[in-house]
Amino acid sequence: MTIFYETMQAKHIDAVAELDKQCFTLSWSRALFESELNSSNTFYIVAICEEKIVGYCGIQAVAGEGSITNVCVLHGYRNKGIASSLLEKIISYGKETNLEFITLEVRESNINAIKLYEKFGFEKVGARKNYYSDNKETAILMTKQL
Ligand SMILES: CC(C)(COP(=O)(O)OP(=O)(O)OC[C@H]1O[C@@H](n2cnc3c(N)ncnc32)[C@H](O)[C@@H]1OP(=O)(O)O)[C@@H](O)C(=O)NCCC(=O)NCCS
Repeated sequence: MTIFYETMQAKHIDAVAELDKQCFTLSWSRALFESELNSSNTFYIVAICEEKIVGYCGIQAVAGEGSITNVCVLHGYRNKGIASSLLEKIISYGKETNLEFITLEVRESNINAIKLYEKFGFEKVGARKNYYSDNKETAILMTKQL
């Protein structure tokens, strides 16, 4: 299985929005992805397998701080290192653009994602109670210094 990684472009948005819907209860609209791509301080990357979008990850950078917005991989393509490759590229982008650190929020029940982030040196630095509007779940705040 060969996976290609490309910077996200407008032509990818429909497929990415569909993937997002399959991965998250609180998924993003097409318009939100469009606005992210039109912003000058964001970087989004997609994973493509046989012309199908199977994963994506994005980061917003403001005043030297990066914030990972989302990372997700389609069911059936998980546990093959795709999220790891996406995160590697996002972290490289952060280093190349001289970000000081990268933060993210993750549901406290999302053990797989927490393990993924810990593998890349993200540390738990705090929690935000009632963060997610659907089930009032706590968000764990994680940070990686670059
Ligand atoms: C979390 C997610 C992105 C991982 O994607 P993936 O491509 O399967 O991840 P990888 O194959 O690169 O695995 C990387 C690491 O994640 C952790 N991990 C991923 N899936 C795991 C599982 N089922 N059980 C335990 N650890 C897991 C491990 O630490 C793994 O490293 P290892 O293989 O060296 O043990 C994927 O499960 C997903 O899309 N989930 C739904 C969306 C989501 O929750 N995103 C995070 C929002 S904050």
